Amino acid sequence: MTFFKALFFGSLLLTCSLPTLAFDYLQTLPEQPPVPADNPQSNQKAALGKRLFFDKQLLGTDSRISCNSCHNLAEGGDDNRALSLGQEGKTSQRSAPSLWNIGFQTVLYWDGRATSLEAQTLDHLRDPVISRWPHIGALVDHLNQSADYQRAFRAAFPADKNTLNSISGINIARAISSFERTLLARNSPFDRYIAGDKSALSASAQRGIQAFNDAGCLACHFGANFAGPAPGPALKMGDGFYELFPNNRGSTYEQQYRLADDQGRFESTGNPDERFMWRVPPLRGIALTAPYFHNGSVASLEEAIRVMGKVQFNKNLSTETVRDISAFLHSLTGELKQAKK
Ligand code: HEC
Ligand code: HEC
Repeated sequence: MTFFKALFFGSLLLTCSLPTLAFDYLQTLPEQPPVPADNPQSNQKAALGKRLFFDKQLLGTDSRISCNSCHNLAEGGDDNRALSLGQEGKTSQRSAPSLWNIGFQTVLYWDGRATSLEAQTLDHLRDPVISRWPHIGALVDHLNQSADYQRAFRAAFPADKNTLNSISGINIARAISSFERTLLARNSPFDRYIAGDKSALSASAQRGIQAFNDAGCLACHFGANFAGPAPGPALKMGDGFYELFPNNRGSTYEQQYRLADDQGRFESTGNPDERFMWRVPPLRGIALTAPYFHNGSVASLEEAIRVMGKVQFNKNLSTETVRDISAFLHSLTGELKQAKK
């Protein structure tokens, strides 16, 4: 789905109540992300997923890393590196995104090539950069040697209780995904502001909301996660909200930060119409996840804002506008509960 900028370029009247539009452009974080029918949430399942998330053995008997090494939940949900350090000195191809509020994303990865958290987890477990197990069956055999994990899986998947074996690739993925759906960073200053506490945002951050709209950013970064339509009738789980990046080709930023070396969705789909198409990424928690962009090439948020102005709109944003937008984006950092083992 592509979104036509013409649809939304008017100015929002932010001082009065927000106009009712097809989408809620500015909204607080919803209570719960959507949950797939075949993987209902339960406390046992999320607790098991959390344990697996922090367990290095999930990625190999001699793995020095766990999921949390690249998605450090206490530090914003990523690793603050351009590219991640994986198994045996291998490096990831793109930058590790944050997992906070990830349950609101309808597709996963920078290019949206995974259509559910469950599928994304299985994909990671087959990726030699992430996991040392030769195949998922070897991981399942390993977990089966632990009476403790056997008990935890049986408690998490009671329907499989009598099959002896509730440990399977798909159940590992379900448990981890259930845990990921609990990663909600609530109560950001922005959320408090939208809920009515006008003192929650500085004057600069308040100007920043308006500047973010005036500059055109809100045309793509809106909704629950500032990543496009919230999951629902406008955008179903499994469907992506993709946009062109860089839109304005040939800027010096493009060269300096190598923004067009990677052709986005084209690299996985091979469809020439999808050259440089990317999922619109979420902006909640963005202040914690430098460096920026799919290749982690831009070190500071202010520079990332300048780059977006130039490569999306061929606009040079003023120093003050950049500062205000940055103050607004800083206000999107919620409380990182669930961050510890
Ligand atoms: C070696 C570093 C590394 C480890 C370990 C790792 N990941 Fe990732 N993860 C990444 C990178 C890099 C990406 C982005 C890849 C892409 O977009 O092509 C990613 C993407 C994701 C995404 C999609 C995020 C989004 O915004 O769409 C999820 C969810 C995720 N990882 C969960 C996990 C889980 C669960 C584990 C443990 C099983 C894990 N990761 C282990 C590096 C890592
Ligand atoms: C046409 C849609 C579109 C518009 C308009 C847009 N963005 Fe983006 N934005 C994207 C896409 C797509 C990416 C992912 C780029 C990539 O692949 O690295 C992105 C990335 C970002 C990032 C980096 C995210 C990260 O996790 O590293 C920031 C920050 C950002 N945009 C802010 C803005 C600001 C500020 C504006 C207005 C000046 C803006 N965007 C306008 C689509 C858009």
